[in-house]
Amino acid sequence: MNGEAAPNRPDAPASMRPAPVDPPGDGRPAAVEFRGVTKIYNEGTPREAVAIRDVSFTIPDLPDKGEISTFLGPSGCGKSTVLRMVAGLEPQFPPTSGSVHVLGRELVGPGADRGMVFQDYTSFDNRTVLGNVIFGLECRGVPKRRREEEGREWIARVGLDPRRDAAKYPHELSGGMRQRVAIARTLVLRPRIILMDEPFGALDPATRLDMQDLLVRLWREVEATVMFITHSVEEAVYLGDRVFVMATTPGRIAAEIRMPAAEAPARETQVEPWFHEQVNRLQAQLEGIEAAASRPGK
Ligand SMILES: Nc1ncnc2c1ncn2[C@@H]1O[C@H](COP(=O)(O)OP(=O)(O)OP(=O)(O)O)[C@@H](O)[C@H]1O
Ligand SMILES: [Mg+2]
Repeated sequence: MNGEAAPNRPDAPASMRPAPVDPPGDGRPAAVEFRGVTKIYNEGTPREAVAIRDVSFTIPDLPDKGEISTFLGPSGCGKSTVLRMVAGLEPQFPPTSGSVHVLGRELVGPGADRGMVFQDYTSFDNRTVLGNVIFGLECRGVPKRRREEEGREWIARVGLDPRRDAAKYPHELSGGMRQRVAIARTLVLRPRIILMDEPFGALDPATRLDMQDLLVRLWREVEATVMFITHSVEEAVYLGDRVFVMATTPGRIAAEIRMPAAEAPARETQVEPWFHEQVNRLQAQLEGIEAAASRPGK
């Protein structure tokens, strides 16, 4: 299922771009690996629901770089189940069968090597922007002065103004600003793996493109592995080094497609012919999956 043809460089003519290939394995354990994972919620009860069945995939741990994997698929195909399982959160974790491995170890629960950003702007309403950003550092016992310094640094890195915005409360912020806070709060902890569940889904299109650029910029800086769920085909193509297309009933990985790395800003990339080609192909694939799922007998 690996290695479907994909253009490599946005600046080369479409017909000349080679498919990206996986880098040679250097013996490092994968960042994330699912081995035959099945999740059945409420097993053995009348509310039993098979969320994903026999899901296997590998996201390599690229030294000093990381990779962004995007997950695309119809509602209910198990995207959040996969992501929250990697986070080690209940009830998604543990799997009903199969195993999940993170950085070479079988997963046993949540850990500091993983950080999660959700779609709904999950901040503490009674904490300021700074208070939200430094929450994790506080839990880790980082001394006050150091954590506030780091917090202010990250507030600036995500494009907010430490002087003007640090003392604001979440209700005083726009949706885009709140997502910047959520990103800062996660990245200040320097996780090796960043888990993002439709983080930009509620933003207007222009803000969304700004946030995509911000994510790519920060991702280069922190060199982490990112797992990113989206319903937007454009977002999956732009951000993804690797796109996992999921199908439903049961939830499973239907395809894994390598993509060119995001190099130019989102607005420039999205008018490139190669970009449209990829979006159309993925869109067609998704429509095929949805049509198959709605056929009688399924
Ligand atoms: N805690 C739960 N208890 C019972 N069933 C659940 C639970 N969470 C998810 N499910 C079911 O598992 C399936 C997969 O859900 P999941 O939330 O992973 O899908 P998704 O791909 O993230 O969907 P969406 O795109 O709508 O967010 C769905 O059928 C859902 O109803
Ligand atoms: Mg979901």
